[in-house]
Amino acid sequence: MHRLSLYGALVALLLALAPVSAAPGKFYIIGMGTSPDLVTVRGDRILRQADLFIVEDDSDRQAWKEYIGDKEVWVAPHGSRVGYGIDPNEVKDPDLRQLVIQNAKHRQEAVDKIRQAVEAGKTVVAPCWGDAMVYGTLWYLEMLPKDFPSEVIPGVGAFEAGSAALKKSTTFGWDTNSVILTMGDFVGRVDTNEKLMRIGTSLVIYTMHLDYPKVFGQLKRHYPANTPVAVVCYAGDPEKQKVIYSTVGRFLSEVDYQNLPADLHILFVGKFLEKGQARIDGLIGARRFIERQHGSK
Ligand SMILES: C[S@@+](CC[C@H](N)C(=O)[O-])C[C@H]1O[C@@H](n2cnc3c(N)ncnc32)[C@H](O)[C@@H]1O
Repeated sequence: MHRLSLYGALVALLLALAPVSAAPGKFYIIGMGTSPDLVTVRGDRILRQADLFIVEDDSDRQAWKEYIGDKEVWVAPHGSRVGYGIDPNEVKDPDLRQLVIQNAKHRQEAVDKIRQAVEAGKTVVAPCWGDAMVYGTLWYLEMLPKDFPSEVIPGVGAFEAGSAALKKSTTFGWDTNSVILTMGDFVGRVDTNEKLMRIGTSLVIYTMHLDYPKVFGQLKRHYPANTPVAVVCYAGDPEKQKVIYSTVGRFLSEVDYQNLPADLHILFVGKFLEKGQARIDGLIGARRFIERQHGSK
């Protein structure tokens, strides 16, 4: 055999015998936005290269079928979060204890699945409605080792999409400059809504199992009755988005709150809805800073 072709054959043989180093796998939690056309460019790129999807139920599988196609899916049920953070031995009711134990098992199975797939070089994706960092599902990440290859890709959540629908920013509020994101109170919560309301700043209330009469009873104690309120339904959805305006005093009597789309509406409260960006001091105190940073014209 010619010397050069012998050399080529040897190189080919060595390459064939060399261990194939698997591309490193990674786990992503991706904020999917509140509407399919609100997924970010970065999220879209990762979704297209995913090998395994972790979803919470069949409706998720349906919602993201364009990305999922015939790729592998693992269902980590939404309800398996129930019991997270609780020691089953401290649960007295035997049925409840059983549920807590079973859910812990479901969570561990999902985490084991993610771990094995990533270690095998796969891209694993857990899509999350809106933005994962606001009341999203994060226990997978928290249960994985700290140095596990992972990334959270931000998304457009109900807060951002809802504010955009209102075309007014909650961070303004005439004589307030902050916003509180909250939800209904629960047993053991120490930052109760009544305490938060005492500040009188803009409030954004996520509405999962919200007790409207209770919340509005509290609001009436801390906000003037004419304080504007808005409900944004299907925030960010180009076809279905709808805004309902009212006030703290009139809401319960004029809004059909019992028939709002479950888990697909969000409540905004505060002067920002009326005042917009206008500020009590007209920003006069900040003029030197503004001139320095942005020029005097
Ligand atoms: C468990 S939280 C999840 C929030 C989500 N991670 C986000 O960033 O939008 C669910 C709550 O978010 C609000 N929400 C979610 N999607 C919405 C939408 N499309 N329009 C209005 N509110 C929405 C509702 O108040 C719902 O009860």
